[in-house]
Amino acid sequence: MQFTSTSAFIATLLAASSVAAQSCPTVWNDVATDIEADFDGCTDSARAAIRMSFHDCFPGTCDGSLILAGECTDRGENTQMIDECSTLGDKATSFNVSTADMIQFAAAMGVKACAGPTISFLAGRVDSSTANAENQIPSPADNATTILDAFTAKGFDATELVALIGAHSAAKDLNGNSLDSTVTDMDTTFFTETADGSIDASLTSDKFLANSTETSEIWESMESGSTWVDAFGPAMEKLALMGNDEASLTDCSSIITDAFA
Ligand code: HEM
Ligand SMILES: *[C@@H]1O[C@H](CO)[C@@H](O)[C@H](O)[C@H]1NC(C)=O
Ligand SMILES: *[C@@H]1O[C@H](CO)[C@@H](O)[C@H](O)[C@H]1NC(C)=O
Ligand SMILES: *[C@@H]1O[C@H](CO)[C@@H](O)[C@H](O)[C@H]1NC(C)=O
Repeated sequence: MQFTSTSAFIATLLAASSVAAQSCPTVWNDVATDIEADFDGCTDSARAAIRMSFHDCFPGTCDGSLILAGECTDRGENTQMIDECSTLGDKATSFNVSTADMIQFAAAMGVKACAGPTISFLAGRVDSSTANAENQIPSPADNATTILDAFTAKGFDATELVALIGAHSAAKDLNGNSLDSTVTDMDTTFFTETADGSIDASLTSDKFLANSTETSEIWESMESGSTWVDAFGPAMEKLALMGNDEASLTDCSSIITDAFA
């Protein structure tokens, strides 16, 4: 390559290094095509994938240990996700990406398949097959104080907690009952219906968050308008980065933006 000036040479070097650091590995286009075919709407798989983001990251770091350390098959809190853990573990192997990335990618695709906001996806998480300590995920019987303490300990404030719980707007319990009347839509119906007691399947933990002094005003603020969707996207993005250095990851968000077009 010939350079007409020193500055052209430097510009080329800078461009080459920034492309090397920043361009999204093309494999993610292939993964997107595969997951789009898999998530034909807000399916059981799509909803399980959303939940897997929480269950991989929150007990420690987003490191694939949900699948790689057998947490998924060994712990009762993960029963609902066993099939999707197996599916996404296989996909990580066949596409040669980290299991940790595959989980967060599928979660972002799941949010979109369930009519939620477009969230970022950064690639480059490193896997671990070391299991996290047990009992990190709160129980559906826990009260607001216990849940808030658990989230505060992991760096999430009350607003982020309540926003994240909005994922239950696309959720079924183990008996297949929906946690709101619009289970295929990530929307604010869940907040209204949990607070007004009209859903038999509502989790006790969600009812506590709706009616306890620490969280009830935040809950109410999320019942209408754009407050919830504006808070949910950033909270999911923060969850997806737990234990990872954002600067070491590569931005692949455009793939989520373009998905399900
Ligand atoms: C206090 C915290 C939380 C508790 C106690 C809790 C508990 C539960 C329970 C009991 C279920 C029903 C299925 C089962 O019994 O295993 C469920 C489903 C679900 N949870 Fe949570 N959850 C919490 C936080 C979150 C967060 C932060 C997310 C965000 C990603 C999330 C996403 C989901 C989703 C998407 C489902 C539905 C899965 C499906 O329908 O297949 N949950 N959760
Ligand atoms: C899988 O990816 C790693 C880098 O992440 C690379 O070192 C390895 O050669 C790849 N394996 C195959 C079979 O392509
Ligand atoms: C919440 O639950 C914890 C643990 O079970 C208990 O110690 C605490 O008293 C409860 N708080 C309220 C306000 O009920
Ligand atoms: C709040 O919700 C919990 C869980 O359903 C219930 O036990 C409690 O009685 C409720 N408290 C009030 C003040 O309504």
